[in-house]
Amino acid sequence: MASGKELALEVARRSREAREIISEYIHETPLEESATFSQMSGSRVYLKYENLQKTGAFKARGALYKVFKVKDEYKGLVAASAGNHAQGVAYAGRIFGLKTVIVMPVSASISKIEATKSYGAEVVLAGRVYDETLEVAKKIAAERGYALIHAFDDLDVMAGQGTIAYELLEQLDQFDTVVVPIGGGGLISGVASVLYKEAPHVKVYGVEPAAAPKTLRSLEAGRPVYIEPKPTIADGLVVKRLGSLTFQVIRELVSGVTLVEEDELAHSIYLLLERGKVLAEGAGAAALAAMIHGKLPIKGKTSVGIVSGGNIDLTHIYRIILRGLSKAGRLAKITGYVPDAPGQLKTVLEIIANHRGNVIGIFHDRTSHSIPAWNALVSITFEAPGRSVIEEILAELRGRGYDFWLSD
Ligand SMILES: Cc1ncc(COP(=O)(O)O)c(C=O)c1O
Repeated sequence: MASGKELALEVARRSREAREIISEYIHETPLEESATFSQMSGSRVYLKYENLQKTGAFKARGALYKVFKVKDEYKGLVAASAGNHAQGVAYAGRIFGLKTVIVMPVSASISKIEATKSYGAEVVLAGRVYDETLEVAKKIAAERGYALIHAFDDLDVMAGQGTIAYELLEQLDQFDTVVVPIGGGGLISGVASVLYKEAPHVKVYGVEPAAAPKTLRSLEAGRPVYIEPKPTIADGLVVKRLGSLTFQVIRELVSGVTLVEEDELAHSIYLLLERGKVLAEGAGAAALAAMIHGKLPIKGKTSVGIVSGGNIDLTHIYRIILRGLSKAGRLAKITGYVPDAPGQLKTVLEIIANHRGNVIGIFHDRTSHSIPAWNALVSITFEAPGRSVIEEILAELRGRGYDFWLSD
């Protein structure tokens, strides 16, 4: 069996070819330095915005190259995916004029189904978990004579994803590290392969959610192992097992892999939106999350983080923004007891207003047994200029005899 380094050289060779072939169908995505994130990480941070790629994620790169390679041998394409690979393959199918079937689990969100259909693919809903979905995809491929396009464990797919590194080498003269999210490992092994060939001094680090630590577990075991992932906001990084090819490249060429927590992912999505005006999905924010939460040895270095995708459900964004605002002290919910007498609630609201708090919600309850007699339990949600103002409001309320506290 070829070693990881031999595989990498082959992937890099194909990646150079892939670049020529796919460049007319994809965007060369922007690379930008970020003063805010540089300061937060102690590194000179550049971000590569693959969320602005066609289909909203880097996946279009690998899919296009793979489909180009198989297009003359097969009558159509099949892929099993509920995420960005689905859209990448559907897009590639449309570009090269091939019938495309995407098999998605029955739980796939309406927005993902619609996005995939919008590229002209037929969507088949089958299976509750990915493995079941994949079985159906294999059956369709065999019955119809279609090519099954794997999401990551394929040298051409890895090579397509590696074109990001070729772009990067042209966009930035010098950099020390690249930080890459890991799902099945196609993206990181493509990037690591190209850098191994073209700029071997650059260190590549991987990031995965603590909820799905398949790479760390596999590195510990010395072989790809199965894990039982927990739910995570970085749904693009959930796979049960790394690829066999991707594992070999990762084991030999990746300098380290770290885990990020759900809160760190959510906070990074929020910061990308607020500071960078950039919409990233959970997987897309993972590299930055590791960089700004001190998870990697990048201090004093020039580091590139890949914002790998931006396809996030709007309902998730809404919750993330609320959490982010609350963490930043820009939104607060306080709860307390107010004597049940005319004018008392008004006084409380005036105290908040005098400190420039803007009330956006009030709930009050007089009926529960746990509430002291002749009092109402009041919860007030308000926007504030910052955390110190929330503290001032609470201090003044308590000073004026109102028992209030910060609630979740
Ligand atoms: C946005 C995003 N980032 C990263 C990844 C991980 O890519 P790979 O599976 O090649 O490791 C995925 C995979 O679906 C993704 O959708």
